[in-house]
Amino acid sequence: MTRRHLLSARDLDAATARALLTLAVERRDHPHEAAARPLLGRSLATVFFENSTRTRVSFTLAAARAGMHTVDLSAAASSVHKGETLVDTAKTVDAMGVDAIAVRTGQAGGAALVAQHVSASVLNAGDGKHEHPTQALADALALGEAAGREGFDLDGLRVAIVGDVVSSRVARSSARLLTTLGAAVVLVGPPAMAPKSLGEAVGVRVAHDLDAELESADAVMMLRIQLERGAGAWLASARAYRAGHGLTAARAARMKDGAFVMHPGPSNRGLEIDPEVADGPRSLIQAQVSAGVAVRTAALEWCLGA
Ligand code: CP
Repeated sequence: MTRRHLLSARDLDAATARALLTLAVERRDHPHEAAARPLLGRSLATVFFENSTRTRVSFTLAAARAGMHTVDLSAAASSVHKGETLVDTAKTVDAMGVDAIAVRTGQAGGAALVAQHVSASVLNAGDGKHEHPTQALADALALGEAAGREGFDLDGLRVAIVGDVVSSRVARSSARLLTTLGAAVVLVGPPAMAPKSLGEAVGVRVAHDLDAELESADAVMMLRIQLERGAGAWLASARAYRAGHGLTAARAARMKDGAFVMHPGPSNRGLEIDPEVADGPRSLIQAQVSAGVAVRTAALEWCLGA
């Protein structure tokens, strides 16, 4: 069996991404078929050094659905508090014979670093401001299904990713993957949060005026303002931020018919997105969460060569 790592959305070309998304739907829709447990007896360690609800729980559920055993390690309960490094912690778990490690760390490049030191497959569950490829797969699945795109061909779909883009690993991974699948992506935010250089690095357009982008977007993906990554200064002018770049109910009403609202979560309700928009009829937020389990099942199979 070929073992792979999933460290970045750049690891997925269009054919591979579409195959993974199709497999995710198959596993979700036919969970009890024998073929849906191809990883029976294999093991996954979730090694999370940053908080998580969606990613951690969905990796655990995905592994269980594929027939895997799971062990969970969080920084709070690990020997990190005794001075052990991320790599030494991962090597210790690896030495116990796990087949796959899902890593979340505040260190950009941390998942790739772990991958250089272990024999298990490494799945990047979010590394600092760098990447979050399985969230990008979940976003693509939710959007592709909602938009009725056969085979996850997103050609011609216009997606605005809005807010604290510079802090967001989801923005980097989703912009890359949605572009790979054919969508036209624009990163939108105040200049300090959506610098032109980031657009050049990711290969997409950058804009600062949300209202100018809103009416042509088929999907608007809002991002959390990440206080833990230095965006706290914006809270001093939260009202101004919301007025300029929040998806308020009034702004959402100007979106075109059939356009979708997305947010990878967790969200600051009332800041980057109004509660009635997050819970409204355009919202794919719960579909993104549900998709997380399906895509992580497929990602585990792909990484472990099943
Ligand atoms: N979207 C996301 O990564 O959420 P969690 O931090 O809850 O895992």
